[in-house]
Amino acid sequence: MCGIVGYIGDKKAYPILIKGLSRLEYRGYDSAGVALIQDGKILNVYKRQGKVQDLVDFANDFSTEGTVGIGHTRWATHGEPNDVNAHPHFSGDENIVLVHNGIIENYEIIKKELTKRGHEFKTETDTEVLVHLIEEIKENSQVSIEEAVRMALKEVHGAYAIVLISKDSPDKIIAARKSSPLVIGLGEDEYYVASDATPIVEYTKNVVYLEDEQIAIVDRKNGLRIISIGNTEVSPYVQELEMQLEELEKGGYDHFMLKEIYEQPRAIHDSFRGRLNAAESWIALGGIRDYENQIANADRIVIIACGTSWHAGLVGEYLIEDLARIPVEVEYASEFRYRNPIIRPNDVVIAISQSGETADTLAALKMAKEEGATLLGIVNVVGSSISRVTDAGSYTHAGPEIGVASTKAFTTQVTILAMMAMLLAKKRGTINQTRFQNLLNEMEAIPEKIEYLLTSNDYIKGIADNYKDAANALFLGRGSCFPIALEGALKLKEISYIHAEGYPAAEMKHGPIALIDENMPVFVIATQGPNYEKVVSNIQEVKARKGKIIAIVTKGDTIVKDIADHYIEIPETDELLVPILATVPFQLISYHIAVMRGCNVDQPRNLAKSVTVE
Ligand code: G6P
Repeated sequence: MCGIVGYIGDKKAYPILIKGLSRLEYRGYDSAGVALIQDGKILNVYKRQGKVQDLVDFANDFSTEGTVGIGHTRWATHGEPNDVNAHPHFSGDENIVLVHNGIIENYEIIKKELTKRGHEFKTETDTEVLVHLIEEIKENSQVSIEEAVRMALKEVHGAYAIVLISKDSPDKIIAARKSSPLVIGLGEDEYYVASDATPIVEYTKNVVYLEDEQIAIVDRKNGLRIISIGNTEVSPYVQELEMQLEELEKGGYDHFMLKEIYEQPRAIHDSFRGRLNAAESWIALGGIRDYENQIANADRIVIIACGTSWHAGLVGEYLIEDLARIPVEVEYASEFRYRNPIIRPNDVVIAISQSGETADTLAALKMAKEEGATLLGIVNVVGSSISRVTDAGSYTHAGPEIGVASTKAFTTQVTILAMMAMLLAKKRGTINQTRFQNLLNEMEAIPEKIEYLLTSNDYIKGIADNYKDAANALFLGRGSCFPIALEGALKLKEISYIHAEGYPAAEMKHGPIALIDENMPVFVIATQGPNYEKVVSNIQEVKARKGKIIAIVTKGDTIVKDIADHYIEIPETDELLVPILATVPFQLISYHIAVMRGCNVDQPRNLAKSVTVE
């Protein structure tokens, strides 16, 4: 979390920094700030609590000249989100300014030490301590700014991506990373630095992803140089970005979330394109081909993830166990890494992550690696840290997801997991040809079925209107749709701030039923399948207590339609692919309720899209 950006070149830096920060705002939006070097000698720093637009309104009254600068958009960790704690932060002599994404864990010890040496701190942040430490080393050891950064970083523990500029070296930007991402864009005599490629893509497609414990020295005349914290030279590996600029814009939709919901037919199609062919009856995941035997023969698969990606993992558990008969465990990465889990060399660990940067997931993976497990990734962001730490994997190809609430990333993750389950089942001989063929046919039909579902948007909006004032909501599902109940509840609570819980439908009578009265909307997935009648009974139990039922049913259903207060039909598909279709109405309901409640749909309070702190 926190987005950072930097520019050095011939252009005016300020508009580039502001545009970049707006693109990175999904990473945090508690405050924003920029620092610019004007005429090689004046250091102007502007920072403001609130959104990037608040910063722009403030900076309008001041000079924004300069062709070198850095910027930051914050998700607060240390110190409340106010103007003072906003980045960039100054050294004591106000010669150096630094922006930071991550947490310096030993900052208090360093702060005490520096205080003894006369440093005075103006903010509550760990970042200010780091910039003072760099200043202290630079002065004491009489070294260059880059050497001072290198020496300082050897003393800090924790996670960081930093970018800094200094009045004494006005033609340089120094950047470094450990566990938080940084990308450097290489233009014509100009360089960009950013937390991800979104601020860079419209200027250049040539990028270098900085690796952990590397420092980049970007010099106006001498170009880019990379060294390790251990002080060895590293030759930059230049890659070409595949991202398109249009993918980063709203394209006529009111919100990124709505755009991304509507992109799902295309995104899902992209996630299986070239990997599945129903007419020729094959499925292939090129990224994991070399590991197929190992996965098929694994003692068990452990899926680790956070948030919505964890819900995708739960669906994956149902799919892989059902089709391929391999034991699967799904773990919250944050719990897994701290609970001394049993990991054996014959385990396959799959990390699921939209951003590929989630700190807990990354740390859990590294832990599993040390125990000798094979690591796979299901990741959306190409070139991200998780995609690089894993042995192999499959990208979801959903395209950039900007709305903080995950939508297309989730359905494409489930698509990949379904394909993995089918592939492994075929390899292990646990699926017959008829079912396999049927699943291939159904998978290919999913994008079209979502297109059809999206035509119900206005109807779903009408349903949402009835429940926009609810204080609580319950989501119920069974089997592979139980995780969809969890995901539906998460979507509603994160963007509309209505308290919501997801439950396996049959568990309702062990607690949540006590909450049901005429004010409680209960969203139920009641599609055709082996559990249909059981779910109908659960619906009757809710109705008997005057709860309101909003049911997702299979097209053509007659029974639930008669009992439910509202129903949404989804096209018929294989039982194991229902989770993908059933997700979409819940996304739309949450979206419309949040809009009706006047919430900031794309940037819900307190959240961030890429959680690079523990
Ligand atoms: C944050 C986001 C969620 C996301 C979770 C995991 O909480 O707001 O939308 O599901 O992180 O992120 P990842 O990038 O690892 O999927």
